[in-house]
Amino acid sequence: MSIHSEDSRRVTTHRLLEMKQRGEKISMLTAYDFTMGSIVDQAGIDIILVGDSASNVMCGNVTTLPITLDQMIFLAKSVVRGVKRALVVVDMPFGSYQGNSKEALASAIRIMKETHCDCLKVEGGEEILESVKRILSAGIPVMGHLGLMPQSINKYGSYAVRAKEEEEADKLVRDAHLLEDAGCFAIVLEKIPAALAKKVAAELTIPVIGIGAGNEVDGQVLVLHDMVGLTQDFSPRFLRRYANIQNIMHQAIEHYIEDVKSGDFPNQKEQY
Ligand code: KIV
Repeated sequence: MSIHSEDSRRVTTHRLLEMKQRGEKISMLTAYDFTMGSIVDQAGIDIILVGDSASNVMCGNVTTLPITLDQMIFLAKSVVRGVKRALVVVDMPFGSYQGNSKEALASAIRIMKETHCDCLKVEGGEEILESVKRILSAGIPVMGHLGLMPQSINKYGSYAVRAKEEEEADKLVRDAHLLEDAGCFAIVLEKIPAALAKKVAAELTIPVIGIGAGNEVDGQVLVLHDMVGLTQDFSPRFLRRYANIQNIMHQAIEHYIEDVKSGDFPNQKEQY
């Protein structure tokens, strides 16, 4: 059932802050096209992320690194057309904001102008702080992303849990505060120990959204294709599969092929 009719007010960064203050959990999912964006929005999600995970899910790349600014803009434009209520966040792709803050601002402005999305997400803390501040100074809301940062996979060498050691955990907490102090409106924490995520969520006043970061944060995000079972080859511990859409699609497509081969489709009523 959609909650659309009961609550059609648009989700804003301010409303997310209020949700954290009253202890209401924030729901977030990815979408990469018009149809999925409108389905997820109509179901009542709070935040839709046009994630650079599109590089894997939509383009079949092994990492998020190859997806380009133009490709992200194309996908985000389509999603925004389908969304009436949720806050739409767009991932800034690898290479579009790390170089220097001037380039970062130019990329950010392109995404905002061409897609009409609400805000942007970037991966990293202290290293990209200047870029974050410059984007924020143009009035563009920014969501941070710490912990496992897939754009840094070549540095890590694996997708294992991050910040298990004290030094990395301390840096993560420092980075979270730096991002909050700079003016970010929320932070995603990916694949870190639940106790560390809990500490960050308790220390920050802005919402902390987890993926593989336990339950004691302000909200949760998953990749839509993974949680509805459109993809089947990615099964980390944190992923709960709510449906097996791949199975349903296989059955439907096999049925269609049978009907075409047997001459059953189209029938009298399905022709002019
Ligand atoms: O790109 C993405 O889907 C993400 C989520 C995993 C948070 O960044």
